[in-house]
Amino acid sequence: MALIAPSLLSANFLTLQKDCDMLNSSQADWFHLDVMDGRFVPNISFGPMIIKFIASTTTKFCDVHLMIEEPEHYAEAFKDAGANSLTVHFEACKHLHRNIQQIKSLGMKAGVAINPHTPVYFLKDILADIDLVCVMSVNPGFGGQSFIPHTILKIQQLREMINEQLLNVKIEVDGGITLANAKSVIEAGADVLVAGNTVFKSTDPIATIAALKQI
Ligand code: DX5
Ligand code: ZN
Repeated sequence: MALIAPSLLSANFLTLQKDCDMLNSSQADWFHLDVMDGRFVPNISFGPMIIKFIASTTTKFCDVHLMIEEPEHYAEAFKDAGANSLTVHFEACKHLHRNIQQIKSLGMKAGVAINPHTPVYFLKDILADIDLVCVMSVNPGFGGQSFIPHTILKIQQLREMINEQLLNVKIEVDGGITLANAKSVIEAGADVLVAGNTVFKSTDPIATIAALKQI
């Protein structure tokens, strides 16, 4: 059974409290919060101020996905806002090890996200230092895109690497997750499924989360 992390990027920000309440009353395990800077990705979303409001509504784990350059300038602000984990992008960090150390020293779980074109073996020498790998199954920047099938192979390879090194690192898969493809993603080795549009654009989000949970 995978953990389900609905992405609030697809929520209605005019009635955000309602969507947070819905998630709180659902079987969702984590809140997935997508931060975009308009530089690393071609879109701008929200930052620590909005996350502080969202985090104040829940006791669930707040999983913050930073699609930003120079995340070191903001790690403390996200911690103060209520982030339980910070995931930075491999492609956005010149000194990834330093970023990971900073996140851990602030008392948060540390994750690394990889874009669809980044091979999983690039993580070999950081894997033992992190808690989570976020395998992007779409190009980051927008919700509602289609799952890139090649990602399945990457999840399988990463699962092998983690098992070989006897590590306790979670594999999160982010982008284009649906009720139709979730099973193959879990079978490939995923521990956490992020779902934006599949949850928030469904007619019954609570039932959709329950259905994802049951896979
Ligand atoms: C994309 C974000 C995702 C996105 C997922 O850049 O990182 O978390 O919100 O949305 P869906 O599930 O709609 O692809
Ligand atoms: Zn995300």
